[in-house]
Amino acid sequence: MRRKLAAGNWKMNGTTSALSELDALARAFPSPTIDILICPPATLLHRAAETVRETGIATGGQDCHAAPSGAHTGDISADMLVDAGANAVILGHSERREDHGEQNETVRAKARAAMDAGLKAIICVGESLEQREAANTLDIIGGQLSGSIPDQSTGENLIVAYEPIWAIGTGKVPTLEEIGEVHDFIRNRLERRFGEGVGRSVRLLYGGSVKPNNAADIFAVSNVDGALVGGASLKAQDFSGIIVALQKA
Ligand code: PGA
Repeated sequence: MRRKLAAGNWKMNGTTSALSELDALARAFPSPTIDILICPPATLLHRAAETVRETGIATGGQDCHAAPSGAHTGDISADMLVDAGANAVILGHSERREDHGEQNETVRAKARAAMDAGLKAIICVGESLEQREAANTLDIIGGQLSGSIPDQSTGENLIVAYEPIWAIGTGKVPTLEEIGEVHDFIRNRLERRFGEGVGRSVRLLYGGSVKPNNAADIFAVSNVDGALVGGASLKAQDFSGIIVALQKA
């Protein structure tokens, strides 16, 4: 049985005052029946982790470097995330792939570092609108999966997020059939590569304009084990609607 996961990606949003949203979330879900994860900006991570300590909410990073330490100005290592209170890290988000030119090999190296440090790696994959319109979606996703996911992956340390680039922050969402097709494809690829046991235990999240009003439908799709949520994770009230939908799914 895969445990459901509602993960919030705050991206480059939030200063000290945003911690009150975390506090509100922790109070709204004193004993959640699903996993809840918030990935705030690195500047808030330690305080966010303190805010939700001894609650059912976990915190994570939004990126890490592949190296354990060294001359990498501005970067953060996986151990530093752990030290700040993270138990997971988002890797290979399309905004990282686009803004920082991250290739699959880089994402894979980062994921190795994250897993070695004891973090869960949430590896993001997803096609652009052009790729979908050219009917290349599954080819693209297949390449990202084989290129970005390290061999040491298990059901415990790997989570895959399917995030169509054109659905992120746009209010556009693929049809439920399209989501199901990609999630079934990812499950199949993971089972082929890692065997049925591991392949079946990895959690698959959908991400891209998940809101309280579309969450229940998305969570009813096969092989959708939760969501990676951007905009709607910033406010406790919005994210609560998504958590409630996932708890009922
Ligand atoms: P969104 O972002 O929910 O704002 O579309 C999702 C994501 O990029 O993880």
